[in-house]
Amino acid sequence: MKGVLIFGGSGTRLKPLTEIKNKSLLPVYDKPLILYPLQVLLDAGIKEIVIISGSEHVDQMAGFLGSGGHFGCEFSYRVQDKAGGIAQALGLAESFVDGDDVCAILGDNVYFDDLSTHIRNFTEGAHLFLKEVADPERFGVAEMDGEKVVSVEEKPKHPKTNMAVTGCYVYDKHCFDIIRNLKPSARGEYEITDVSGWYVQRGLAKATKLEREWVDAGTFDSLFRAADIVRKHRIEGIVKNVTEKTTQTDTKNVEKVSV
Ligand code: DAU
Repeated sequence: MKGVLIFGGSGTRLKPLTEIKNKSLLPVYDKPLILYPLQVLLDAGIKEIVIISGSEHVDQMAGFLGSGGHFGCEFSYRVQDKAGGIAQALGLAESFVDGDDVCAILGDNVYFDDLSTHIRNFTEGAHLFLKEVADPERFGVAEMDGEKVVSVEEKPKHPKTNMAVTGCYVYDKHCFDIIRNLKPSARGEYEITDVSGWYVQRGLAKATKLEREWVDAGTFDSLFRAADIVRKHRIEGIVKNVTEKTTQTDTKNVEKVSV
C-alpha cells in the first residue's frame, strides 16, 4: 500500500498565518501539523508516501520533510497548481501509486485513535473512518448498516446521520479510474465524497467508527483545539507517538519518540 498526504489548497481560512508559513508547518502544540497525519501512515507500516502540495511555500514543506530518510520512509512530491478538489489532488498520485492500494489522508486531520490495524487489514473496495459530531452539515456524512456504508453525502443541508466522514480514505486501485471519470460538483470541485460514493453504491465500502477525539484543524478554532487536546494528553500522561526528525537517514534505525 502507498500513502498520499494531501496538503494542497492555499490555507485561506488560516490567513494571515499561511501568508508566512505553509499550513503544514503550523504548530499543534509542539509539533508541526503535518507530523500528525504522517504518523497515521507510518503507524500503518506505509513507507512510500507522496505529498501533494499547493505551490505556495512548497519549498518550506519540502525543506522540512526532505527525502523521508529522517522519518524512516521515502517521500515524493507533486504540486497541485490550483485547488480543484481533494479527489483531483489524489488523482495527481496515480503514477506514484502505480496500481497499488492507497491510503490517502488530509494534511489537516489530527487523529487520536489508532487506525493502523484497519489500514493494514484492508483488502478491497474502500474503507472510511467515521466520527460522531455535533455539526455533521460541515462534513461528508455517512450512513451505515453494520460495518457497511450505505450512503455518503458531501455537506448535506439535512444530514441523515451525525457521522462525519473523516479525512483518511483507504481505496483499492480502482479509485484512479473513478477520479478520471468524475464530474465537478456544484461548487466546481472534484469531490472525494464522490469517489467514496462510487464504492458505496456498489456495496464495497466499509467503515470504522472512531472512539477518541478527531480534529479537522483547518480553522483557527480547530487548530487551537487540536493543540489543546495534545497538551492535555501530555499532562495526563496519555502517550501518542509522533515521529520526530532524526539526525540519521538510515531508514532501518529511525526511532519514534513519545510525546
Ligand atoms: O476533514 C474531513 C472533511 O474534509 C470531510 O468530511 C469532507 O467530506 C471533505 O470534503 C473535506 O472537507 P473540508 O471542507 O474540510 O475540505 P477542505 O476544502 O478544507 O480541504 C481539506 C484538505 O484538503 C486541506 O488540508 C487542503 C486539501 N485540499 C483541498 C482542496 C479543495 C487539497 O489538497 N486540494 C484541494 O483542491
